[in-house]
Amino acid sequence: MLVGFDRSDDAGVYRLTDELALVQTVDFFTPVVDDPYQFGLIAAANSLSDVYAMGGRPLCAMNIVTFPAGKMDIGILREVLRGGLDKLREAGVALVGGHSVTDPELKYGLSVTGVVHPDRIWTNEGARPGDRLVLTKPLGTGIVNTAIKAGEASAAAIDEVVASMVRLNRDAASVAARFGVRACTDVTGFGLVGHSDEMIRGTGIGLRIDAAALPSFAEAREHAAMGFLPGGLQRNRDHWKATMHAAAGVDPFSIDLVCDPQTSGGLLMAIDPTVADALLAAMRHLDVPAVAIGEFTADPKERIDLR
Ligand code: CO
Ligand code: CO
Ligand code: CO
Repeated sequence: MLVGFDRSDDAGVYRLTDELALVQTVDFFTPVVDDPYQFGLIAAANSLSDVYAMGGRPLCAMNIVTFPAGKMDIGILREVLRGGLDKLREAGVALVGGHSVTDPELKYGLSVTGVVHPDRIWTNEGARPGDRLVLTKPLGTGIVNTAIKAGEASAAAIDEVVASMVRLNRDAASVAARFGVRACTDVTGFGLVGHSDEMIRGTGIGLRIDAAALPSFAEAREHAAMGFLPGGLQRNRDHWKATMHAAAGVDPFSIDLVCDPQTSGGLLMAIDPTVADALLAAMRHLDVPAVAIGEFTADPKERIDLR
């Protein structure tokens, strides 16, 4: 076993030969949007992301479904699965099976199997002081999804957040592979704060995040001001309050963004500062909205300074 449970990485990695290792991950959740087809697309993009976050290439996948049989129209499930399959096709991944159980709530996701060269695994450990922290999607999916559930998001806001959640992290990963990655993960339920903490925990380095550089969806600030903060945001804020230090005068909205749980969020990468600008330009060339949002530091250690 090359990557296991110990550092809460995105996927498990198991060596098959000197040239080949298996990457395995599983993820499923309740709907985040009303449209069942879009939910299928999002769930698949999210499940595949953990393979990309390891530097891997996904090959095959299996559906995991819970469904309130007899209480919900089976056509809804069909649309969810069609979304998942379309996203797998786009990724060039084969659906090889699956399993469903009857449950009071619809839940959907996939287990994904991929491959990676054992010498080119991106774990969440390996950042060095001076490395840039690069994020490849805007933040705020939790906030905007909460506003959507309350019926308060505009059609434009829904389109923007759905387009981001359905997007594969494949392009971002392929650009990053060309330039080199010191450490990588993807931003999901623990938010930027939790997943960036995974990159510094136990490593003796720290992180400085530039609040003004944080990318967000156009209406996220407005939705946050209206109080559409998901429960996970407050849990993340409480859980990492000893790790994250916000400087005096930091915009409170940037603290919300850092703690907001993401669904199918972007890749979060430690990049050698000498190649960071070229990497960002190459990302933009593929319409990946990647930005440098901070820098790893020698001091203070194992702390995230937001300023
Ligand atoms: Co992950
Ligand atoms: Co995951
Ligand atoms: Co990783």
